[in-house]
Amino acid sequence: MAEASAEARTGTGPAFRVEGLTKVYGMGEVAVHALRGVDLEIPTGELVFILGTSGSGKSTLVNILGGLDRATEGRVFFRDLELTAASDRALTFYRRDSVGFIFQMYNLMPSLTARENVALVTEIDRDAMRPEEALAIVGLEDRLNHFPAQLSGGEQQRVAIARAIAKQPEVLLCDEPTGALDSKTGIRVLEAINKVNVELSTTVVVISHNADMAAIGDRTLFMSDGRIVNETRNARRQAPSSLAW
Ligand SMILES: Nc1ncnc2c1ncn2[C@@H]1O[C@H](COP(=O)(O)OP(=O)(O)OP(=O)(O)O)[C@@H](O)[C@H]1O
Ligand SMILES: [Mg+2]
Repeated sequence: MAEASAEARTGTGPAFRVEGLTKVYGMGEVAVHALRGVDLEIPTGELVFILGTSGSGKSTLVNILGGLDRATEGRVFFRDLELTAASDRALTFYRRDSVGFIFQMYNLMPSLTARENVALVTEIDRDAMRPEEALAIVGLEDRLNHFPAQLSGGEQQRVAIARAIAKQPEVLLCDEPTGALDSKTGIRVLEAINKVNVELSTTVVVISHNADMAAIGDRTLFMSDGRIVNETRNARRQAPSSLAW
C-alpha cells in the first residue's frame, strides 16, 4: 500500500500557504534581498526539511512562518490566519499558542533543572502537558532534576524540544536543531522531533545543512538565493536510527 501523504493522515487542509513572499532587509544600497518570491504550501502533519547554502534565506523564511519576522511583500497564511495582515498582538498570540521553536542554541535557564525549564512554559498554559510528560516524550524521564550543565548537548537540546512541545503547538519550527551536535547525539534529537511529528501530528519544519538527514522527512525543499529552486518527496520516510553522517 502506498504511504499516505501527511495531509491524508491528518485529514485537514494546509498548515501554511505562502504566496509571492519577499523579504528585503535594509534599504537602498545596503538592501539585502533575503527572499525573492517564495510560493509554498505545507500540509498539516508534514515533516518537511529545508536545505540550502548559507545565506539562501532558510532562517528568514522560517522566522516569517513563525511570526518572528515580517514579510516585505506577499502573503503568508497559517490556516485561516493571514500572518502578513495580522496585528503585532495577533502575531504574539499566534507565536505563543501555535508555534514551538527549536534553535541551534538551546537557550535553557542554567539555574533551573530540566523539569523547571519545561515548567516555565507549562505553568502559563492551561492546556499544556505536565513537564514530566513532555520530558518523557524526548526520552529524558530519568533526567528531570538535572541542571543544564549536568546534561550533554543532545540532552539539553531534547529539554528544549520538550519545552517547545509541552504547550502542544500545532507547528514546530526547527532551525538547525542538530547543528551543534555530533552524529549520534543528533540522531537522538531527530528521533525526538520525528516522534513529535508522528505521535502528536505536529507539523514540523526542519532547517538543516545535512542532506542525509532529510531522508526522515516527507519532503525536502532546496533554497538558493532567496528562492525555492527544487523539491523532492520521499516515497518512504527513513527511521532516524538508520541515519549516519
Ligand atoms: N536582520 C537582518 N538584517 C540584515 N540582513 C539580514 C538579516 N537577517 C538575515 N539577513 C540576510 O539575509 C540573507 C538570508 O539570511 P538567512 O539567515 O535567512 O540565511 P540562511 O539560509 O538561514 O543561512 P545560514 O545557513 O547561514 O543560517 C543573508 O544574506 C543575510 O545576511
Ligand atoms: Mg539560518
